[in-house]
Amino acid sequence: MQKNIVILISGRGSNMEAIVAAAIPGARIAGVISNRPDAAGLGFAAERGIPTRVVDHKAYPSREAFDAALAEAIDALAPDLVVLAGFMRVLTDAFVSRYTGRLLNIHPSLLPSFPGLHTHRRALETGVRVHGTTVHFVTPTLDCGPIVVQAVVPVLPGDDEATLAARVLVQEHRIYPQAVRWFVEGRLSFDAEERVRVRDELAGPTGWTVPPVEA
Ligand code: GRF
Repeated sequence: MQKNIVILISGRGSNMEAIVAAAIPGARIAGVISNRPDAAGLGFAAERGIPTRVVDHKAYPSREAFDAALAEAIDALAPDLVVLAGFMRVLTDAFVSRYTGRLLNIHPSLLPSFPGLHTHRRALETGVRVHGTTVHFVTPTLDCGPIVVQAVVPVLPGDDEATLAARVLVQEHRIYPQAVRWFVEGRLSFDAEERVRVRDELAGPTGWTVPPVEA
């Protein structure tokens, strides 16, 4: 039985592209939803015949009203998994609770370091030697929740925000499809402390994968 994946975007949609391009066996991209009508990623999805929908947050009087409309659009696609891929809205607890255990996000830092915005700038300002990206299940606390997989990149002398972001993005495109694949294959489970376990001999017992370090 195929699992329905609904992907939420706000802009470029390169992570969405990576997940679509991965053509994960057993996964069907049921739809792509954006809160912004001008999100570039909508074009990519439409060209591939993936149903697209805009739920414009500006058309709703409150966060609750927007989240209710968003949930209605998502549920119409009968999702097994909802994937936040550069979706730039803070979601209400009610929304997050509705999709407990089937809502993933990617964040451009090694959580719990640098939750929130401008992660690459803050990593450079802090002087960390390694930086990276995290795929996690979404819980009500912003940029928090059980970690599925992380990838690490070096911070190199001479890096600026753009070069560091580009290096991290390469790894985002690698680990997000991988996390979705694990979910679809039923390999993700939680231990008593809600830490994620991955049943995958290649990933190791904790789901860590370490990408090759770039020169
Ligand atoms: C990515 O860096 C992601 O980690 C963050 O927003 C960015 C979205 O990029 N949440 P894209 O829209 O997937 O290209």
